[in-house]
Amino acid sequence: MHAIILVGGRGTRLQPLTDTRPKPMLPILGRPFLEHQLEHLKRHGVTAVTFACGFLPSQIVSHFGEGESVGLKLTYVIEPQPLDTAGAIAFAARTLEPQRLLVCNGDVLTDMDITHLIAEHERLGAAATIALTPVEDPTRYGLVRTGERDAVLTFLEKPTLEEAGDDRYINAGTYVLEPEVIAMVPHGVRCNIEREVFPALVGKRLHAIGFDGYWNDIGTPGSYLQANIDLLDGADSWVDESARVHANATIGSGAVVGPGVVVGDGAIIERSVLLEHVVVGRGAYIADSIVGERAVVSDGQRIEHGDVVAPGSAPEPV
Ligand code: GTP
Repeated sequence: MHAIILVGGRGTRLQPLTDTRPKPMLPILGRPFLEHQLEHLKRHGVTAVTFACGFLPSQIVSHFGEGESVGLKLTYVIEPQPLDTAGAIAFAARTLEPQRLLVCNGDVLTDMDITHLIAEHERLGAAATIALTPVEDPTRYGLVRTGERDAVLTFLEKPTLEEAGDDRYINAGTYVLEPEVIAMVPHGVRCNIEREVFPALVGKRLHAIGFDGYWNDIGTPGSYLQANIDLLDGADSWVDESARVHANATIGSGAVVGPGVVVGDGAIIERSVLLEHVVVGRGAYIADSIVGERAVVSDGQRIEHGDVVAPGSAPEPV
């Protein structure tokens, strides 16, 4: 199976972390998010991936190359200007032989059973099959309602709780598409898959399947932090082996301390992600926050309540 991963978005909700690197390259427990995603796809039979790139593509290309280190055949397409989701999918798909494609957003951490999604797509004879995931609060997402044989009936963009009723299933950012769907997308102009392509397919072999496992869109500071904490998988904290933590510092519950970080005497870190080469001064307190790479946290400074500290220019320690 060939997959297309969308990695071209600007990632505005994660700025300023995404001013210096594309969202899919942000680390989860010290490894780029995309490494976790590629491992998951490989477990479900994906053998080749085309990245649909836009913003800062060179970091992705130079990290993964042709895919030797991940055991997948990797290729890249770079849009001349952002084409939005459907535009980007079609731009990438048109570089390949027409075929059934798995399409994934490059910012969803999930253990979804993609093998089952593809099998259901086949069984239903679908033109497109959307994976759905339940969320507690559907009001900031698009709800998808299905009927007989999992056929999509309606899309409800950002519904109120009253409009949503008991429905909780939203588009999970993972699809199986037949070539006829790619053919619907106009060439070279912005086109959105959720708002333009899928609504036009309702009643025309558009299906959706719900999955109840782990699903987290890492696109906001809160969900990015949560993805790191979730991946601790029972461990209390995670500290990269190259970090230097003072013996009197406290690495508390939910702390994720990246490569090359230096933590000073008496500093406390809890439920926070410190990206590469952050320098934390003596007695600093960091909680429920994210600190961008090479940022310098001063002695005694408090960073808390969901702060996002911009990447800085701390030198690599010798
Ligand atoms: P925000 O600006 O914070 O909304 O993030 P985003 O730009 O990543 O947008 P969003 O989270 O809605 O995008 C969902 C997925 O589509 C992500 O994996 C993006 O990288 C990708 N994406 C969004 N727009 C484009 C685009 O124009 N081109 C490409 N290639 N990918 C896109």
